[in-house]
Amino acid sequence: MYTVKQIKDTFLNYFEKNGHKIIDGASIVPENDPTLLFINAGMAPMKKVFTGEEAPQAKRMCNIQNCIRTIDIDSIGDRHHLSSFYMLGSWSIGDYFKEGAISYAFELLTKGFSIPKEKLYVTVFSGDEKRKIPADTESIEFWKKVGIADSHIIRCGFEDNFWRIGGDHDAGPCGPCTEMFYDTGAKHGASLEESGIFDDKNRYIEIWNAGVFMEYYQDENGNYSKLNMKSVDTGSGLERMLMTLNGLESAYDTEIFLPIIEYLKNNCSSPIIESLRIIADHVRTSILILNAKVEPSNVKRGYVLRRLIRRAIRHMRTIGLSDDKIPELLDLTMQNMKNIDLEPKWNFSKQEIIEKFMAEFAKFSKTLEQGLKAFNEYVKDEKNIVNNKLDSKIAFKLFDTYGFPLEITKELAKEKNLIVDEKEFNELFEKHREISKTEGTFKSGLADTSEETIKLHTATHLLQAGLRHVLGNYVSQKGSNITPERLRFDFNFERKMTADELKAVEDFVNEAISKEIPVIREEMKLEDAKKTGAIGLFTDKYGDNVSVYTIGNISKELCSGPHVSNTKELGHFKILKEESSSSGIRRIKAVVEK
Ligand code: SER
Repeated sequence: MYTVKQIKDTFLNYFEKNGHKIIDGASIVPENDPTLLFINAGMAPMKKVFTGEEAPQAKRMCNIQNCIRTIDIDSIGDRHHLSSFYMLGSWSIGDYFKEGAISYAFELLTKGFSIPKEKLYVTVFSGDEKRKIPADTESIEFWKKVGIADSHIIRCGFEDNFWRIGGDHDAGPCGPCTEMFYDTGAKHGASLEESGIFDDKNRYIEIWNAGVFMEYYQDENGNYSKLNMKSVDTGSGLERMLMTLNGLESAYDTEIFLPIIEYLKNNCSSPIIESLRIIADHVRTSILILNAKVEPSNVKRGYVLRRLIRRAIRHMRTIGLSDDKIPELLDLTMQNMKNIDLEPKWNFSKQEIIEKFMAEFAKFSKTLEQGLKAFNEYVKDEKNIVNNKLDSKIAFKLFDTYGFPLEITKELAKEKNLIVDEKEFNELFEKHREISKTEGTFKSGLADTSEETIKLHTATHLLQAGLRHVLGNYVSQKGSNITPERLRFDFNFERKMTADELKAVEDFVNEAISKEIPVIREEMKLEDAKKTGAIGLFTDKYGDNVSVYTIGNISKELCSGPHVSNTKELGHFKILKEESSSSGIRRIKAVVEK
């Protein structure tokens, strides 16, 4: 049996022997790369090296990089999909190209890992007319040259054999690739020779992307240009390699997961295989993400983490694992990482990681039971189901009220033979997120919702109206912070205000107060809010209801409140100070007095 350590050592030693420098893996949270949530390939932290913008540590390099890929989260629980994995990667930066990469890959697999060449199949890029990228005929020749039979070389199109960092709109270095597959034998289906079909889901398992031939650059409009330098990027999933080399049925049978799966089996009441795998996978990935200093939340990385933790918890319930076993399960997972020589550089103690996981557990476990009950009630009501589809508003409500990530609702629905429309859910999710963001922005930095703070909040709206009246309508809010003692308001204006101007603004506000004007809140569509001339941050992204506060014909602002109901509640408005905040931005501090 191969161990993780043997695979790592064989891989790194082989490339080191062939002149490659062993470099450190990066954190799974990308540095200075807002386009990427998590590092998803060994080359991701060095994109700029391929474009020539950054110098490489060496022309030939290799490493082991922890990667997170949650795009296939629905497939996790099958034989070999995982949400995190370690990538064995090697690179040539402007050094050897197709021939070198292919001969290294072949030699490492057949000699280093002793795989008979008859068990290997390779795919090569067959070209793409629309994008004007030619077929990779050279790689075919190099494969034949090292000894791969023509019948084991499969030509594939853009989707399979052109590697790029994301989709049509993600800019980055890219190129045709050639991948190596291992034949797991007749027990996993018909061979290519028998059926004419290359079954890469079951029988043939991809073990190495033996070369992305980085010679193109895709811009954000999906146009291609040639890079100045030709490079090679390779990557192999360690977990898959371990499973394949050991002839195992699944990645969960390897030393990476086996002790965890065994523990779960011994401590639960109904060991459903899929749930065991999902728990083992998600717990491991959650630990790695928590260790990378990400906290569970409803946005971006934090939301990926939240989904993993919550889905794991729901499956723990499914198999009947008692809550008091969870810390032990986490502890065991971390201990196992150490035992098999696959642990990250710890940023926290084990105890701290367990506490972070359990804090999210505590949040979710409160609503999980109620949510499950609510789900069962919802599906009893026919109006929530049309053509076997659960109303997306229900899926969203389960998220919003009970904290159910979509995967959980989808799984519950599946058990009842129902489907959930992911697209509609995501639309509702985005809309909700944008509204909260907008409301967050326009919460205007309220320190609390005491009576004094609320008065000052309404005064802030009047102040903004006054500034626009006196200085011009181009003036607008750039920041706001309100405590019970004072308001602080930042706005764009290029110079110090004169005493007269300040007096005029003060008078404007006090006049509005003396007129005893009601403050009216209305909910309306964003589109309609725009038409009313309300001020605030408008973006195209969000849809339905926003709230708008109107004070007579003086002020109309997109705002989530709260506000007083009539300006007469404010008392006397007084500006204390006007000063520079930063370049082109002025700051006013003001109070209201009885
Ligand atoms: N970047 C390539 C991949 O992810 C090779 O590592 O497959």
